[in-house]
Amino acid sequence: MDNEMIRYEQITGMHLELTTRCNAACPMCARNFKGKVRDNLEITDLSFNDCKKILTHSFLQQLEFVSICGVFGDPINNKDLILIIKYIYACNEKIYINLYTNGGIHDERWWKRLAECLNNGSVIFGIDGIDEVSAIHRRNTDVNIVFRNAKAFIDAGGNAKWDYIAFKHNQHQIEMARILSKKLGFKEFQVKKTSRFFKNLFEEDESLDSTIMPYGRHPIYDNHGNITEYLELPDEKYRNSCEGDLLKKIQEYNSLENYYDSVDIECQAIKTQGIFISAKGNVYPCCTVYQQVCYGELFGVTDERELNEYKIWRNYNTSAFENSIDEIVRGEAFVELQKSWKIKSIKCGKAKSCCRTCGKNINMHKAQHSIC
Ligand SMILES: C[S@@+](CC[C@H](N)C(=O)[O-])C[C@H]1O[C@@H](n2cnc3c(N)ncnc32)[C@H](O)[C@@H]1O
Repeated sequence: MDNEMIRYEQITGMHLELTTRCNAACPMCARNFKGKVRDNLEITDLSFNDCKKILTHSFLQQLEFVSICGVFGDPINNKDLILIIKYIYACNEKIYINLYTNGGIHDERWWKRLAECLNNGSVIFGIDGIDEVSAIHRRNTDVNIVFRNAKAFIDAGGNAKWDYIAFKHNQHQIEMARILSKKLGFKEFQVKKTSRFFKNLFEEDESLDSTIMPYGRHPIYDNHGNITEYLELPDEKYRNSCEGDLLKKIQEYNSLENYYDSVDIECQAIKTQGIFISAKGNVYPCCTVYQQVCYGELFGVTDERELNEYKIWRNYNTSAFENSIDEIVRGEAFVELQKSWKIKSIKCGKAKSCCRTCGKNINMHKAQHSIC
């Protein structure tokens, strides 16, 4: 049994949320609700000093991989970002860093500095079109500034990759974007097949805006809270390959909830030996459990089936400012979450986020990155 548990000494990867600030306003992002930043979202960062406190030299020594991404923010909005990257390398120069961003702020000098400090790491730019089409999803970004920044980063020797999230409104630009990515010097171009439309299939609480539209449509709001347009599923070729599996499970089990009740968990945090640290310095196995815990206080979800993770986390102190990461991983929150996988149903306490993300055989997050 112990081999199937998350174990501190086996952790080799860290997903780090350095801020809840963002310059963009992507319609499907957890930080936004009906066109506005969620009322209860605490705007906060992990500063350079915070990182020195919670990410000890010995912890960083055991890591091979750091993903600077997050759930509620964009890392380039953290003013200490470059100092933090330098600190990580000072503790372990062999770590591989991936930094995920919309690339929409800062001047060219800043991007040159980022390239110079990032060693062999990569910046993954989220650009969802080749012109103003990109800002339909990456709201509040200017694609010309993003390309200017990416070019400054690449010209200074940085490894840049391009992630393109496919929707109906931008799929016609995918092949042009692929060609452009080569011309601009991006090392990789990847079509990301979003799993976020699936939320309509398994969430019912009104405080989750995935529930507002039928499956396959997601509203885009203006700054006054009016729906102006919709994000829609792209053609089959660009869709997340789990779509068919999920729709089949609904037929077979009558609902995804019934399927989730029966599914065995194959935890990706265990498999990939990863851990997640939030912008407040709290520790979770992964970003999915983190977001689900936030459904409690931050999102104001009242559907009890969505709150099992929240009910576990609210009982324990999982702050890396007050405990070592080792203590937290061995502690009650992690143990209870893992025990919940054997509970007979979500209604009785089985963690829903684990069922939907790490259910055996259906891995919709992995499918987001399938090649096409
Ligand atoms: C909240 S973002 C944080 C990092 C950064 N703001 C960014 O855009 O890359 C976390 C991840 O979600 C991805 N993302 C944003 N909108 C998405 C969507 N509709 N479907 C799937 N992934 C999405 C981003 O590309 C990023 O990799």
